[in-house]
Amino acid sequence: MTGKAELKLDGKTLTLPTVVGSENEVGIDVTNLRKETGAITLDPGYGNTGSCESAITFIDGEKGILRYRGYDIAELAEKSNFIETAYLLIYGELPDHVQLEEFSSLLTENQMLHEGMRFHFESFPPTAHPMAILSAMINAASSYHPNIIHKREERFPYHAARLMSQVRTIAAFSHRKAQGLPVIYPKSSLKYTANFLHMMFSHPGEDYELKPELIRALDLIFLLHADHEQNCSTSTVRMVASSRANLFASASAGVCALWGPLHGGANQAVLEMLEQIHDEGDDGSKFLAAVKDKTTDRRLMGFGHRVYKNFDPRALIIKEQCDKVLSQLHKSDPLLDIAKKLEQIALKDDYFVSRKLYPNVDFYSGIIMRAIGIPLDMFTVMFAIGRMPGWIANYKEVMEDPNSRISRPRQIYTGSTLRNYTPMEARG
Ligand SMILES: CC(C)(COP(=O)(O)OP(=O)(O)OC[C@H]1O[C@@H](n2cnc3c(N)ncnc32)[C@H](O)[C@@H]1OP(=O)(O)O)[C@@H](O)C(=O)NCCC(=O)NCCS
Repeated sequence: MTGKAELKLDGKTLTLPTVVGSENEVGIDVTNLRKETGAITLDPGYGNTGSCESAITFIDGEKGILRYRGYDIAELAEKSNFIETAYLLIYGELPDHVQLEEFSSLLTENQMLHEGMRFHFESFPPTAHPMAILSAMINAASSYHPNIIHKREERFPYHAARLMSQVRTIAAFSHRKAQGLPVIYPKSSLKYTANFLHMMFSHPGEDYELKPELIRALDLIFLLHADHEQNCSTSTVRMVASSRANLFASASAGVCALWGPLHGGANQAVLEMLEQIHDEGDDGSKFLAAVKDKTTDRRLMGFGHRVYKNFDPRALIIKEQCDKVLSQLHKSDPLLDIAKKLEQIALKDDYFVSRKLYPNVDFYSGIIMRAIGIPLDMFTVMFAIGRMPGWIANYKEVMEDPNSRISRPRQIYTGSTLRNYTPMEARG
């Protein structure tokens, strides 16, 4: 499409150019709208607003397509791994041997936290949510490496590797702290995901048995979460980056945005929901009736998506992986049975069908994490570790865009018009 859009406002016609993406998505460029007409666009929740042009991830929600840098998610899930995919997202191409080796070495070199950071962990109360610790500690990490703030462009590969590597160390340390356990330092001989499991579950003097099937399952969860276009947390990262804040500050803000139950926090909310259904002895039908009752604000967590209106391709891969992990571990989980039952009922129910609500990535991922032994309040942290390459890639794109401006949306003001100050004595 090369057409132009016409907007009629108060008898005046404004011609607006269109922008066409490489997958033929069409955007109407309203850059000059306010200048020419005085009006702005209003799009609460941004369902119709493109905030940027990006070459990182493509989603077609109607067809259930997700591609990182042009590669289909299912192919990457089958043939790649988290670290190779992270390189692809950040640098745009799959790495060759040398590039992957260099990237892995940088991750290993940067895996240790500055020893001074250990003391910050001590000051969090035992009730601290690991997402709060994660966000605070990512920001704190930049204080120990002033280059992150002052020489950020020229040292980008180091900062990116430091962030990716240390987020995993911070996450594991926060878990150990919450459990009142001694921290376990990373081991250079281990690869990224195995190293994380080692830091989470080993004990001093006794290494955790690293089961290849669990390493693979968690690595896959990281890979499937690695990027997802302009979602709430990625948009937050880009917005913070647009003010030229450093990479760590931007990622720390992303963690906060991700924490909410409508976003990354949904994986924890799904498990809590399944546990509740299980404890109540419900097979799911009572719960679904409550969800459909519009006088309650209950939602079927792990269902629905702003963009996917057909299916979430990540959910299909995760569901398959879920069955595989449980059978490899010779385990069964009643929560998986409830989840399957809920899905089965919902996919035939007009409430969900008419609203195009399908299982999303969070619906089954929690069951895998539970099988691995990851505690419930760490689920969203797993999402954050996985999403780090996507945030880094988006940060890089903002920084490298010569036309990037500070993000500054407008508003339609609906408050009082001008009024005079009333002195306290006259206020009644
Ligand atoms: C993901 C989500 C936030 C998308 O929200 P959205 O695009 O703003 O969609 P809306 O909230 O406008 O929902 C549209 C309709 O579907 C309903 N709906 C959406 N998700 C629902 C869910 N999970 N359970 C029940 N109803 C749901 C809404 O109540 C609304 O119904 P209405 O038209 O009768 O008012 C939403 O689907 C949700 O809350 N899902 C559960 C949380 C979750 O799993 N998040 C992880 C996303 S990866």
